[in-house]
Amino acid sequence: MSHTVLVTGGAGYIGSHVAVELIEAGYEVVVADNMSNCDMTCFEGVKKVTGRSDIPFYKIDCCDAESVARIFKEYRIDALIHFAAFKAVGESVAEPLKYFRNNLDSFMTVLGAAAGNGGCNVLFSSSATVYGEADSLPVTENSPRKPATSPYGATKQMCEDILEHTVKAGIGIKGTALRYFNPVGAHPSALLGELPRGVPNNLIPYVTQTAIGKRECLSIFGDDYPTPDGTCLRDYIDVTDLAKAHVAAVGRMIGGKMKRDYEIFNIGTGTPVSVLEIVRTFEQANGVKLNYRMAPRRPGDVTAIWADPSLANRELGWKAERRLSDTLESAWAWERHLAGKDD
Ligand code: UFG
Repeated sequence: MSHTVLVTGGAGYIGSHVAVELIEAGYEVVVADNMSNCDMTCFEGVKKVTGRSDIPFYKIDCCDAESVARIFKEYRIDALIHFAAFKAVGESVAEPLKYFRNNLDSFMTVLGAAAGNGGCNVLFSSSATVYGEADSLPVTENSPRKPATSPYGATKQMCEDILEHTVKAGIGIKGTALRYFNPVGAHPSALLGELPRGVPNNLIPYVTQTAIGKRECLSIFGDDYPTPDGTCLRDYIDVTDLAKAHVAAVGRMIGGKMKRDYEIFNIGTGTPVSVLEIVRTFEQANGVKLNYRMAPRRPGDVTAIWADPSLANRELGWKAERRLSDTLESAWAWERHLAGKDD
């Protein structure tokens, strides 16, 4: 019998890619999303890619305990993957209460529903942001978490703690936190990808929107960092590779293979890439010229962060596989698809 995974925020960027990979791995998927930061584009893409038009979809707010409880009544949920959260770093600085209220409440509500149903395997989507400006690189799971520089980052740290303490309480919850580095790219089908509302904050959507002419010019935030080319270093992880890490982690939990009831894994490539390298690789991979200029540093940016992913490689049997140029090709194909310019 196949296992059922509830994916909250499953119509969003990462959630929809995870839904595809879960279904392709043989899981049944139930999606819950309040659609506050997306439309049905990616969910429709999930249905097309998997050929499954019958994926249960609940348009609910995960802060609404009754609605969440109803899903647990209607399905035997073997694992829960929680993505439903606000994610704009800058907005979180301006509206901290909105972030704390939503991101903490929604997670505690789904955890409560899971516990109320005799327990569940819970996977929380965490972030490399919990490491802040790391003292030594690459970061391992044992690298210290630094004080959060934004309410968004603080909610990631707090949700990790909430999960750890809930697991410790012995009420049937097992937990995994995956700390993502920089998720980028789109599904190879170009049927689902990132759909930022308004002006993108993140690098790759800004790059693709500039290339297609939606934005005039990419600003590279800082060329005077102590890095080889002066621009920041990040660990860009392909979203499909990232999604596969979730399948591996869910399999480990459901299969009873965890070494501890609460585990943390870095999900990254282990390779630092500069902003300028992203620009050059994008141009080469896609044969397009990008209009860019150097701009002042963006407040809050760390100089460099990249993962030591060896624990995930070893324990999850997972490894990032896609080449950066393929990932950047997929991002470009998605942008062209959105603009109705598919080849
Ligand atoms: N950048 C630019 N120009 C842009 C956008 C970004 O030069 O228009 C640069 C940034 O300065 C940074 C790099 O591109 O050096 C990556 O920036 P992103 O905004 O794409 O990603 P971040 O590393 O800032 O963000 C990531 C995650 C967040 C998380 C944050 C914590 O996407 O979820 O790390 O630091 F909160």
